[in-house]
Amino acid sequence: MHLDWDAAMTNRGEYPHFMLKEIHEQPDVVAHTLLGRIAGEKVDLSHELAWTPEETEKWKKIHFVACGTSHYATAAAARIMETLGNFEIRTEVASEYRYRNIPIDEETLAIFVSQSGETADTLHAARLAKNRGARCLVITNVRGSTIHREVGEAIITPAGPEIGVAATKTFTAQITALTLLGMYLAKLRGELSPASERRLISALMDIPGKLATILSKEREIEALARDFADARGFFFIGRGLAYPPALEGALKLKEISYLHAEAYPAGEMKHGPIALLDKELPVVALVPKNGLWEKTVSNIEESMARRSPIIAIATESDEEIRHYTSHIIFTPETEPELYPFVAVIPLQLFAYYIARQRGCDIDMPRNLAKSVTVE
Ligand code: G6P
Repeated sequence: MHLDWDAAMTNRGEYPHFMLKEIHEQPDVVAHTLLGRIAGEKVDLSHELAWTPEETEKWKKIHFVACGTSHYATAAAARIMETLGNFEIRTEVASEYRYRNIPIDEETLAIFVSQSGETADTLHAARLAKNRGARCLVITNVRGSTIHREVGEAIITPAGPEIGVAATKTFTAQITALTLLGMYLAKLRGELSPASERRLISALMDIPGKLATILSKEREIEALARDFADARGFFFIGRGLAYPPALEGALKLKEISYLHAEAYPAGEMKHGPIALLDKELPVVALVPKNGLWEKTVSNIEESMARRSPIIAIATESDEEIRHYTSHIIFTPETEPELYPFVAVIPLQLFAYYIARQRGCDIDMPRNLAKSVTVE
């Protein structure tokens, strides 16, 4: 196996945990993932993907297959891609994809996402799709990993080694690569206008700076986590592009703080989980200033009526959100499609500091492995 990483990169330096170091690496990771994939103001993946416009026309179905955090990266990617073109997309966890009777054929583009490239279920799912004639592609952080060798066509995320069991920087690298991939596919199919391409490329180039701005609020987030470290659990809500980062935020909390955390599409909350809410179950509401703001705010009001404390992840310019809660983490404005990038960082830091308050083993949480090579 060939690893193009430097041994020094696995030193946690000034940071008490690898997870915190890796959270802080994210501005650089996004910048590195964009490097070499943008020419002028255009996305160009032609040196990695031997795709022709004609064959991309043939792919009627797009399947995203992954596990854990990689699966949530695909959930974000699917929502981003839906804004770019007329795509029919499925996102499946690999352990389900393998055993269901999902139609997979020559008209399928199957995209497997695996940080390690060694996850057994994802690997077996890739073998299945390949056998059924799908065009397969892998997004992985490990060049030469088993899935890379077997699938062949790949986009490698240059996030460097991730030591913390809870994935952070590899999620951001994956959504960067997947956004570029979605743009490239839409472009080859003639569905991405040059103006949209320019707008998104310029917004992507601004992401590292925006992530750095959020990281500079670390002390605020730590203070918030201190206030909530004794909560019974957490309930996360978000709509549209805010839902996948809610899922990932809840997963981080579960993994490293051992608290129950659940994410729901905000509009679905009334169909059951609202019964859980009371003053000991805080609601983390992802409420970006977009067309769904009012809808999510009405879910915040429903939660307040059940006495749940509200933690809002809101957009910088949103003064109105202060009417609903004083527990707010503001994220910089972005193009709407790129919201998952800015939403996930405060949630990673929040989970980190909750776990630290609770004295958990952050880099090596109980019962979890960095790479699951058994079925
Ligand atoms: C394990 C890790 C998770 C990871 C998942 C998928 O459960 O603890 O952090 O997201 O595997 O791993 P992969 O390497 O396929 O992305």
